[in-house]
This record gives sequence, C-alpha cells and structure tokens, in this order.
Amino acid sequence: MNLLPLVGRERELGLLDDLVDRVGERGGALVVSGEAGIGKSALLAAASRRAGKHGMMVLTTAGVQTEAHLPFAGLHQLLEPVLAGAEGLPARQRAALLAAFGMADAAAPDLFLIGLAALELLADAAARSPLLLIVEDAQWLDRPTGAVLAFVARRLESEPIVLLTGVREGYASALGEAGLPELRLEGLGEAAAGALLASHAPALAPRLPRLALLIATSALLVFSLLPVVADAGSAGASSAKPTIVLVHGAWADGSSWNEVTRLLQRAGYLVLVPPNPLRSLSGDAAYISAFIQQRTSGPVVLVGHSYGGAVITNAGATDPDVKALVYINGFAPDQGENVLQLANAQPGSELSGDPTTKFDFVVYPGAPAGDFDLYVKQAVFPHAFANDLPAGTGAVLAASQRPITLSGALEPSGPPAWKTIPSWYLVGRADNVIPPAEQRVMATRAGAKTVEVNAGHLSMLSRPAAVTDLIESAARSVD
Ligand SMILES: Nc1ncnc2c1ncn2[C@@H]1O[C@H](COP(=O)(O)OP(=O)(O)O)[C@@H](O)[C@H]1O
Ligand SMILES: [Mg+2]
Repeated sequence: MNLLPLVGRERELGLLDDLVDRVGERGGALVVSGEAGIGKSALLAAASRRAGKHGMMVLTTAGVQTEAHLPFAGLHQLLEPVLAGAEGLPARQRAALLAAFGMADAAAPDLFLIGLAALELLADAAARSPLLLIVEDAQWLDRPTGAVLAFVARRLESEPIVLLTGVREGYASALGEAGLPELRLEGLGEAAAGALLASHAPALAPRLPRLALLIATSALLVFSLLPVVADAGSAGASSAKPTIVLVHGAWADGSSWNEVTRLLQRAGYLVLVPPNPLRSLSGDAAYISAFIQQRTSGPVVLVGHSYGGAVITNAGATDPDVKALVYINGFAPDQGENVLQLANAQPGSELSGDPTTKFDFVVYPGAPAGDFDLYVKQAVFPHAFANDLPAGTGAVLAASQRPITLSGALEPSGPPAWKTIPSWYLVGRADNVIPPAEQRVMATRAGAKTVEVNAGHLSMLSRPAAVTDLIESAARSVD
C-alpha cells in the first residue's frame, strides 16, 4: 500500500519509469530487493500507476507464505486475466499450461512447456496492449511459479513486456537468482527521512534534526515513531471508551450504519462514520487512515462492512490507536489478494459470473483507460444484497448505491492489519454477495473471534443488534 508520494526515491523511480516508458522499444525485467518495509511495494505501486496512465495492461501476482506449497498458485493468479487466450496456443503448450492449473488431465508437469506457454500467452496479450507484470514478494512464490517466471523474465527483451518483482533480502527465490538486473533499495538518507517526517507532522518540525538523525536508516521507522511523538502531545485527550469508526462497503454509503450507530450511541460510545471514497483500495485506506489520525484521539475500534473490511485491513495498522478490527460480512484479504477474487473464491456469490450481466460499466471523468465505475444492475441488487430485508428496501438501496471503480475492486491488498491487531468477525449465513464459506475462511485465517448469524449481506440492517453486540465485545476488550 502506498499512502503518500514517495520521498527520496527519485533515482529509483526514474529507473522504473524509464523501463515502463520504453516498453514499446524494448522489454525487460528488474528485481527490486531490500529488507522488509524499505519501500519495494511502494515503488512497484508507483510503476503500476504509471503503466495504467499509459494504457498498459497490468497483471499482478504475489507470493503468499500460506500458498508457497501450492504448485502454480502464483502463476495462476498472474495469468488468470489472459487465460482465455490459451485457446490459441500450440496444443502441447496449452495442455501443459491447463494441466498445471488443474484444468486438464496431466502427466507430470513439464516446466519447459509451461514456461513456453506462459511466454506465448503473455506475448499474445502484449500484442494488443503492452504489459506490465508485477510480482510481489517473490520470496514466497511457490517453486514451480518461481521457475516459470524466471524463465519468462529472461526472454522479454523482444516483447513489449516489463516484469518487476519485489524480493525480500536474505531470502532465496528463483526470480532473485535468475541473473536479472537488480535494484537494491537502501534506507532513506537523513535528508529524505527528515522531509518525510516534515511532510507528515509539520508541528514537529522544530524537533526534526534530532528525530531525523534517529530515523535516518529506515522509512518504516518514521511511521512507527510518529504516533508516539504525536500521542505525547495529546495525552489525557482519550475518553474511557474507545471511539467506534464504522467503514461502509461498496454499493452503499454511511447510512448503511444508521441503525448500528443509534444503538452504539445509546450505549454511550462516540461513533464516527467516515465516507469511504470507493476509488482505489490503497487510496481508500489512506483516506480512512488520515481520518483516524485527525478525527479521533485515544483507542479506536475499526469496523468494516464488506469492501470496508478490505479497507480496514489496509488502514488498521497505520495508526497504533487502532486496537481492534471488526469485520461484518467483510473482506479480510491477505497481501496480494483483491476483493473480486475473494468474492469468487467459493461458489455462491450472485455477483460472480459474466460481469456484463451483473454490473453496468460507467465511464467516470478522468478514468484511466480500461477503468470504470461499477454499478450493480438494478435487477441483480435486491436479491443479492437485500434477501432478508423488507420487500422494497432492496430497490431503494439499489437506487442509491455508490459505485466502486473496477480498478479498486481489482487492486491487490497490502500487508494485512489482522496479522497484528486482534479481530472479530460476523458471518452472515445467508449472504448472497460474499459466500459464507469464504467468510469463514477469512475469519479463521485472521484468527478472529467469530459469530454466525442468519443474515444476508446487509446484516447491519437486518440484524443490527447482533452486529452491535459483536462491536461492543470488541470495544470491551480495549479498555
Ligand atoms: N520513500 C518513501 N516515501 C514515503 N513513504 C514510503 C517510502 N518508502 C516506503 N514508504 C512507506 O513505508 C511503508 C513500507 O513500505 P513498503 O513499500 O510496503 O515496503 P516493502 O514492500 O519493502 O516491505 C509503506 O506504508 C510505504 O508507503
Ligand atoms: Mg512489500
């Protein structure tokens, strides 16, 4: 996730921009390496935005520790959007590739054929629009994916394809060891670290010289130090009860929390319901993060419904005041996952299937090529969202839905806050948007204290008391 403009990385950005800008002349690959938190993902995200502006197609995959033993999981994620093109591959390559993905009967997987198939598939796609491939956390890719992508990465020169991969230093990975050009990230210098701090906490400027000295080695430290200093200034401002921040989902707005807000207020809580911009996952998380930093003091219980869950997953860890996460029929993505992928991970979502039958695609002003606002079709909305609400409510909610951008729904999630902050989860057993089976997978993975209720996707409207109870148990754990 990239919350802010990059500071002190002009040289590195220049290198990446150059690769992206010249993709038409010459393809290539670059390994971005460095320790955790040094800014690898932030650089890759910047390259991805630039490619988007050029109208390039961006395909992304990420190594994930829990999938490191699943052969070809990473490759499947990368190629999924262009897999339809496999039809045009030579028969043996197509068979090898589809077998790797469990879509055809297979003998032992032939990595060479699969490598050729992947390269051919990507080259075909790139002939229509140049490609940027982003491979995050290559140290956690499953092995066959690492081998295939290393093979591909060494053969891109004559294709309009750039592959960028982030690799954590000190870990083995096929891509890191393929002899590709490497950009090793060092800690930000003192001046850049100071500038970063100044841009965040102008009030602290007088103390800068000493702080900048303390933090010159790592960008991340800046973020861990800041709140400590800021807290010192506002000591005593916190109230006995935590503040409850309710983040709404896509195709909704803050009013979806009205019932729950009323109940929590009655119980004496300070409740805030910020707007969720629904423009990009990283941008929405940055917005909520800035809101928490400036509009709350003292401990916060951060609650997300549906897509709001993905937002709190990305925003939660940016402020140490966030003491608890509560997911209400919510997405709790792991790093690299996007919400459309999660909604489709198990059968049963009424929003899955041919997207043109589920959504209206609407161009919004300033949309990058290929991006749209997604509106759920009026005919689809009521049964998908409001299956346990009075007849008529679904139609009203369908009319007032706020759209999310396609790119936002597809943006890979950053490091999950549920890994470090305790979480609670409400599973809706009759949810037609995020299948309950997938909610359980995400709740279990997050180690969340979980309750199940007989509710559709909008449980905060149909079962506000149950939702409030769960939020209150999270809040009680805080004080
Ligand atoms: N140069 C920079 N300027 C501003 N923020 C940065 C910079 N480098 C990293 N960050 C921020 O620091 C955090 C950690 O960076 P990230 O890119 O996730 O690290 P990595 O992928 O190397 O583990 C993120 O919130 C990122 O936005
Ligand atoms: Mg990263």
